[in-house]
Amino acid sequence: MHARFESMAMAFKVSFSTLNSGNAKYRISSTSLTDCRKKYPSVLKSHTTKAEIFRSMEKWAEQNILTYLKPVEKSWQSQDFLPNPASDGFIEEVRELRKRAKEITDDYYVCLVGDMITEEALPTYMTVLNTNDGIRDETGSSPNPWAVWTRGWTAEENRHGDLLNKYLYLSGRVDMHQIEKTIQYLLCSGMTVGGGRGGENGTGNDPYTTFVYTSFQERATSVSHGNTARFALNQGDVNLARLCGAIASDEKRHEAAYQKIVEKLFEVDTNETMLAFAEMMKRKVVMPAQLMYDGRDEHLFRNFSRVTQRLGVYTSMDYADILQFLVERWNVEKITADFDGNGREAQDYVCKLAPRIRALAERSQNMKNRGEPNLVPFSWIRDRKLPI
Ligand SMILES: [Fe+2]
Ligand SMILES: [Fe+2]
Repeated sequence: MHARFESMAMAFKVSFSTLNSGNAKYRISSTSLTDCRKKYPSVLKSHTTKAEIFRSMEKWAEQNILTYLKPVEKSWQSQDFLPNPASDGFIEEVRELRKRAKEITDDYYVCLVGDMITEEALPTYMTVLNTNDGIRDETGSSPNPWAVWTRGWTAEENRHGDLLNKYLYLSGRVDMHQIEKTIQYLLCSGMTVGGGRGGENGTGNDPYTTFVYTSFQERATSVSHGNTARFALNQGDVNLARLCGAIASDEKRHEAAYQKIVEKLFEVDTNETMLAFAEMMKRKVVMPAQLMYDGRDEHLFRNFSRVTQRLGVYTSMDYADILQFLVERWNVEKITADFDGNGREAQDYVCKLAPRIRALAERSQNMKNRGEPNLVPFSWIRDRKLPI
């Protein structure tokens, strides 16, 4: 997942302080629960009702959501895209891969590394899904369809980090120690869904906002991996393009599943779902690797986001397009339910938001184009500098 959309992250009203604990550096949010209640009243109410709704949808999930998981026997594995260490031609294949990798630009590698680090923080995402009332895996091997989905989704996602990690290791283009450190730090820090940390001041254990987030997020990763595939092809590396494309197509299947869940929620609990959609968008869909740190750069996520924006791997225009897509996908403009006042207001807000974001993005792009870009070192590529 990836709002390397820096201005979105910056617009966030949450302030972070850092504290040192032994050798590790963890980031702690200072926004209080009381503030959050004032700002986002509906997220913190009626969780019991929402959990009940998810329980009543178990049969539906079994028939309509689990079908989006691909059987293991039909799934690709990392090995299908990489030199085979058990074959005699292994060394030659690695040499070929490294020869192709030499032709690719540093800024591309920074995007690919950031994508890989995001994928490698998967334990956090499974944890976050399991904080949600009504869908959590109560035992670790629960037969509940929501739990089966979360485990199946995680098992598919696990291949993404594996594949990118192994490719980058073989490419010889990056500093693996620095990258591995960044992953370890990120797993220590966790993630924010809609601001702050989890139940403290994020969306908490609200499955409605969580599934709006994943609907957006999985589409964002599909866009991002799709673009790294396209750019690899433009730079003449067909194998790398295939590898990124395979990940992008998994993400597309996942986004379809999550969007179907929210579509169903709109049908069974229209008012609350509209509120959840609007609240998620007010909080901004900040990407899950927002707290990334490599032990050196305090602004690593911001700097990485600027590279993805400049290269066009994931941009603020993509953010607006995804929002617009979701508004259309869920037919939000045409919903004519018996809203309470807040529901109507929420509908109006989300329907008008994408054009506003586009206008803001254009303005900030024009301003950036006028200034000289800064050169910033990235430890992932041995401190070589990139314009941001
Ligand atoms: Fe993924
Ligand atoms: Fe994903």
